[in-house]
Amino acid sequence: MKKKTKRLFLEEMASPQFVAPYQAAIDKVTGILEEYKISVKDADHQRIEMITSRIKTPQSAMEKLKRKGRELTAETARRHLNDLAGIRVICCYYEDVYQVANMLLSRPELTLIKQKDFICSPKSSGYRSLHLIFEVEGLTLPAEEEIWQGMPKESTAEENWQGMPKEPTAEETQEKEEMQAGDPALLPGVRIEVQIRTLTMDAWARLDHELRYKKEIGEVGKIVKALRKCSDSIAEVDDKMQEILEWIRET
Ligand code: GTP
Ligand code: MG
Repeated sequence: MKKKTKRLFLEEMASPQFVAPYQAAIDKVTGILEEYKISVKDADHQRIEMITSRIKTPQSAMEKLKRKGRELTAETARRHLNDLAGIRVICCYYEDVYQVANMLLSRPELTLIKQKDFICSPKSSGYRSLHLIFEVEGLTLPAEEEIWQGMPKESTAEENWQGMPKEPTAEETQEKEEMQAGDPALLPGVRIEVQIRTLTMDAWARLDHELRYKKEIGEVGKIVKALRKCSDSIAEVDDKMQEILEWIRET
């Protein structure tokens, strides 16, 4: 690949103009989650333990586009990468994961694009987590000067389902287009990936991550097998803890 193409791509991906809509989407969804965290009164415990976010690095975006066999342009990144903006929500119990998901699904400014329930259907690695990809509607960009001043922020860091994503009706699409035509600062939907999981699922994913990003490692087969076993044990613990929580409520 041409060095110049690569350099231009990396530069554009790191530019404040490229990053700003994704940061706006992260700020919006984090705000919704923070508000929910302090306002929810239906639980005997805190529904959300931790919220972290990140914007995908230009290098990582480049590697993913290469893996997908896509051209290296900002436009293909926007179109084909669902996780340029990412939020992770960590909860205590299994029920919280779905409560948080349902809360997000009920928000009119979030349109569900895709959902992957790796809790019901874990990956072959043993990875378990609920992934929701949304388009955040109605975002506006801060003034140009503010975008330049504030460089991309590095953030630290089944039965409950309400249904599959619905196609927008012709009326809804028209309404959206009219809204945008009326306000040039209004962004078209900005995609964001929200990963929701329990503390134990998160601990597992961190350990698995150590393996994935280590270049040279001995006994990979043994570790992969042990991780899969560990994931099954964690699933049992999560199920049991949910059950105990319900017993406690009944007493
Ligand atoms: P797309 O379908 O194009 O979004 O590809 P993808 O590979 O990004 O999707 P997938 O839903 O499989 O993974 C999204 C994210 O989930 C990854 O970037 C990781 O953060 C996480 N993830 C997925 N699989 C694993 C896994 O086996 N182990 C760990 N630790 N994390 C995983
Ligand atoms: Mg990813």
